[in-house]
Amino acid sequence: MAKRWFTNRLFLMSASIILLVLIGIFHVQTTPDTNRENWPKQFTSDGQRLYFTGQTASGQHMAPRGGHHHMTMMGNGACVDCHGTDREGGRLWPTFWHVAPAVTFSALAGDHGHGGHDHDTYDAESLAGAITEGIRPDGSTIGLRMPRWSMTPQSLDHLVNYLLLPPDSD
Ligand code: HEC
Repeated sequence: MAKRWFTNRLFLMSASIILLVLIGIFHVQTTPDTNRENWPKQFTSDGQRLYFTGQTASGQHMAPRGGHHHMTMMGNGACVDCHGTDREGGRLWPTFWHVAPAVTFSALAGDHGHGGHDHDTYDAESLAGAITEGIRPDGSTIGLRMPRWSMTPQSLDHLVNYLLLPPDSD
């Protein structure tokens, strides 16, 4: 009897600890906001359209050509699926141990004094390399949870320009 009581207590305690850890994880970083109601009502550039829809105005799709297969199937095949409406990134679901980082102007090219960014500043060329080849400016490889993308040079140009546009010039 005493033993059963002890095992039950142990079970309850472990379960509560696991629950608290999970709550902690989600508290620190929530899943990306992909709600269409928060999308821009009208796209102000082709790059923005690509970020949200994965297509150009004429309906040309960009396509994942590498990375983990199941990751490339997420959402509608656009950056917003993982990096979110506000480009702040988030914890992916159901693989909640994977986090898509922020791809805001300040995360990519801004002042690295705050926010704890661990990569070099992107310019147009290195950002294009990250999107198509998965290489960061410092030469390190981005994890395969980030698909590698294929699109026309023109679309890539538009997307990169959109991501590197300082927010106040929008
Ligand atoms: C299926 C989810 C997913 C999609 C869709 C996706 N990404 Fe990512 N992205 C990630 C993850 C996860 C990482 C971090 C990978 C790692 O751990 O190294 C990442 C990393 C990045 C990085 C590197 C940031 C750094 O740390 O230097 C950039 C830039 C980026 N993504 C841009 C994009 C763009 C632009 C698109 C659309 C063309 C896109 N991503 C679509 C999941 C995604």
